[in-house]
Amino acid sequence: MPIDDKDEQFLALMGLGAKSGKKSHYPELKRRLSELERMRDLLDHARDAIFVISLPEETVEYRNEAALGLLGLARTSEKLRLHDCLKTPRAAPLSLFSIFPVLSPEEQRKVISLLTLNGTRRFEASFQASAEEGKTSGILILRDQEERIVIQEQLAASLKTVEEARMKTVRLTAALVEMKDSYTGKNQRQSARLAHEIGHRLGLTKAETDDLVTAALLHDVGMMGVPTEILCIPGPLRPVDRRLMQEHSVIGRDILAKEGFPEPISLAVLHHHERMDGSGYPDGLKGEAIPLFGRIVGAADVVEAMLSHRPYRPAHPREEVVRELEEQRGKLYDEKIANICISLLREGFSIAEEEKESKY
Ligand SMILES: [Fe+2]
Repeated sequence: MPIDDKDEQFLALMGLGAKSGKKSHYPELKRRLSELERMRDLLDHARDAIFVISLPEETVEYRNEAALGLLGLARTSEKLRLHDCLKTPRAAPLSLFSIFPVLSPEEQRKVISLLTLNGTRRFEASFQASAEEGKTSGILILRDQEERIVIQEQLAASLKTVEEARMKTVRLTAALVEMKDSYTGKNQRQSARLAHEIGHRLGLTKAETDDLVTAALLHDVGMMGVPTEILCIPGPLRPVDRRLMQEHSVIGRDILAKEGFPEPISLAVLHHHERMDGSGYPDGLKGEAIPLFGRIVGAADVVEAMLSHRPYRPAHPREEVVRELEEQRGKLYDEKIANICISLLREGFSIAEEEKESKY
């Protein structure tokens, strides 16, 4: 079996010198060579570009067929350095050190842009270094991810557009509620800001916080179904009017459920007047049977209402709101949520002062 230059590369990588072996070693060399040929065949048919590099010079000891094809490298028996093979989108040489400044025995990954025969494309570069007998080398694998990244970017842009459309609808609906009852509209926006802060401190994800804010922005949307004469009554309501007013949470849930809003949002709207001791409405739920978003929006609603001026009463002082939360935490309000509200109030969180900057 003839030994060509490429075989010598492999033999060198395996620590076997083709010309240095004794005749008695030839059967073993042949067997190893046959294995290496199979390995080379596999590597050369791989779609990823693969480089074996010795360090620190970054000399390319081996590159497969895909590396030649993807990067438009000429076949040469000359030893190349990696920066002779990799080019930035502006055709500048790119070294391994520029991609991975700190070598690690752990596999490192990074998305990089390279100039190829097909223009600039993005690759996932993975590199793993190893040291043996005082020599450091490593394998660099470049996987063309251009199509996948483009699809991901298009998907992210579509999701953003859908999310923006959803938020526009939510804001429009909240604005319609405000046209019917300005206090309710303002209460929803300010409660949403407070709910956002509570959600953040509870460690909710971005998606959960978005749903929570949507629920808070629309928590009184059911007021659209309550007669305006009842909404305009200043002060305490007669029992019959109160029952009609309380219907707003069920009406709100029905509107949102019918329009296909996610269940956590519609359930938060349904249960935002439930209280931890079961004294709330519409179902008299107790404790954690009340959905988390319902407990958050309920607390934010109360805090906002107490801090706000109404035609029939002045705004409650901040200390009074803190006292209410301290006295009723665990009874009316979720203890953890009440504590967060207390912290926010003590830290100076102000619903009214920052309203102009509010994105809600
Ligand atoms: Fe309400």
